[in-house]
Amino acid sequence: MDAAPPSLPSQPSPGLGAPVGASASAAAPPLLSLRGISKHFGAVQALYGVDLDLPAAHVTALCGDNGAGKSVLTKTIAGIHQPDGGEILWEGRPVHIRNPNDAAALGIQTVYQDLALADNLDIVQNMFLGRERLRRGLLDEESMEQAAATTLAGLRVTTVRSIRQPVATLSGGQRQAVAVAKAVMWNSKLVMLDEPTAALGVAQTAMVLDLVKRLKDHGLAVMVISHNLNDVFEVADRIAVLRLGRMVAQDDASAFDRETVVDFMTSGVSRRSGGPADSTVLD
Ligand SMILES: Nc1ncnc2c1ncn2[C@@H]1O[C@H](COP(=O)(O)OP(=O)(O)OP(=O)(O)O)[C@@H](O)[C@H]1O
Ligand SMILES: [Mg+2]
Repeated sequence: MDAAPPSLPSQPSPGLGAPVGASASAAAPPLLSLRGISKHFGAVQALYGVDLDLPAAHVTALCGDNGAGKSVLTKTIAGIHQPDGGEILWEGRPVHIRNPNDAAALGIQTVYQDLALADNLDIVQNMFLGRERLRRGLLDEESMEQAAATTLAGLRVTTVRSIRQPVATLSGGQRQAVAVAKAVMWNSKLVMLDEPTAALGVAQTAMVLDLVKRLKDHGLAVMVISHNLNDVFEVADRIAVLRLGRMVAQDDASAFDRETVVDFMTSGVSRRSGGPADSTVLD
């Protein structure tokens, strides 16, 4: 579990204040850049020299077929896997992310579909798991409840009945919302969501996509992995396509349409007219 980085204040993220315009980061380096990242597991080469930029205040969709390397790439950024080669730049400076605590200390949070929350604990307990606030040696329930409620309200998560509800009683979409709110509360700068809507119905999917947009509006970099191209085109500012461990295209979402994304996912190239003019095509 992600321990509290010592330098971070235990209060809701200032990122929930005034929305940040996308142009604010135009001159700055991307929040996170991968340069030539490779990773193998025994004989299996999962990633080949992958380049990826995740700018602040943008949603980047990571697309690719089953086995393309999306989860391995995510886990490399999250500190679960160590790359064999290549470089990770954070705000333009090289960093080593050796474990999930290193990732959390930088402000990187990953939301996994099922593993994000402890079912038997309530919403407040989940949001403060491992970083509980104390007051005179006792749990400061009041201040934790207040911070959790403020964060959820700031994200306009209004459908949960009580923040003292056990997470097991929440719907899939509400669970996602709590996991995202937790990431926001801990001053995250980059939130990665691996298939956040795969198990959700229409209304819940809309709620989660709305949350994703709100994170971006507050200046966070967001990376979303999705097989659902409707979701991708609904939220993504940028699209990156992995195929068999190689980054075959990466550009503004407006440079793609559904067909070109599918072309890149399945063959690594797209020759359709109207396709991306200046995408990186590496094979
Ligand atoms: N721990 C591991 N040990 C060995 N091989 C692995 C491991 N994790 C992933 N792989 C291999 O790396 C490749 C990429 O897997 P990855 O899980 O990243 O795919 P993915 O793009 O997330 O696919 P999906 O859409 O099915 O989730 C696959 O060939 C997979 O078998
Ligand atoms: Mg995966």
